[in-house]
Amino acid sequence: MRHRITALAAALAAATLGLAACGSGSLEASGDLDSSKLTIYSAQHKNLTEAWGQKFQNETGIKVQVRYGNDSSMGAQLVEEGASSPADVFLTENSPAMTTVQRAGLLAPVDPATVAQVEPQYVPSSKDWVGIAARSTVLVYNPSKISEAELPASLMDLADPKYAGKWGAAAGGADFQAIVSAALAQEGEQKTEAWLKALKSNAKVYQNNIATMKAVNAGQSAMGVIYHYYWYRDQSLDKASSGNTKLHYFKNEDPGAFVSLSGGGVLKSSKHAADAQKFLAFVTSKAGQDILRTTKVKEYAVGKGAQSDAALPPLASLEAPKIDPFTLNGPKVIELMTQAGLL
Ligand SMILES: [Fe+2]
Repeated sequence: MRHRITALAAALAAATLGLAACGSGSLEASGDLDSSKLTIYSAQHKNLTEAWGQKFQNETGIKVQVRYGNDSSMGAQLVEEGASSPADVFLTENSPAMTTVQRAGLLAPVDPATVAQVEPQYVPSSKDWVGIAARSTVLVYNPSKISEAELPASLMDLADPKYAGKWGAAAGGADFQAIVSAALAQEGEQKTEAWLKALKSNAKVYQNNIATMKAVNAGQSAMGVIYHYYWYRDQSLDKASSGNTKLHYFKNEDPGAFVSLSGGGVLKSSKHAADAQKFLAFVTSKAGQDILRTTKVKEYAVGKGAQSDAALPPLASLEAPKIDPFTLNGPKVIELMTQAGLL
């Protein structure tokens, strides 16, 4: 009897683990895709993608499945799959990956009614995709390691030898690479190249934004270049990774004030094109943009009249540089960063 109970408990535990592993109730596609469902390739965070997908599925009855990856891997995968891709929708964290797919001629124009729902500065000039959320570049710093007066006035100033060993960034990630693409668009190739060389000797390279913030919090690095929402999220929880830190906003249309757009696009090859357009219409609608606030992901809303999380400084107050996301050159950034020995 005892043995049977143990076996039963073990079986139950295994079943629970199994459910957890494939994400009970999750839209994540494990293994083969179901071609009858609307297929989303998402490089956005899972909790946000799930919240959008679940609400859309519940409201429309259209079944959704999601394949996850990061900006660069999914962008590359879509280009490789070309017209035979099973993807209907592509969601990114940053726009360069979307531009890569767009330049390969794989995106269908977004329904004009959807484009009209998004603030015009968050739509690329091509209108082949739209902004679905936004994130701001920030400098997180540890006041016990560097005073406010000593902080750089511009992101480009971090190349100054006086900041050597005092800052870090997740150079290998798509988030930081989007920031570099903004510097490239604004400052030109020569300056960006020199800046990246300085980064190689001045900066500590971390695995991701959270690791960068944690290092600053622990005093291992005085400053770090990250996106705002990692900090605000931690501040709204237990502050375990940010309690000793503050944020510095560069403003002044500095490359360090860059606001990066998460994008949504419909694949030209989609076999569920109408549903895919409907999904993008939902994500940019008031209900879709409200999810950015209700899920507490702390990313900015970009829909017309949409309200962002009250804890965030208003987007308009950040004095972000005005850059057409269509002009951000992801491949060039990879090339320059590789040359600088950062990748
Ligand atoms: Fe992120």
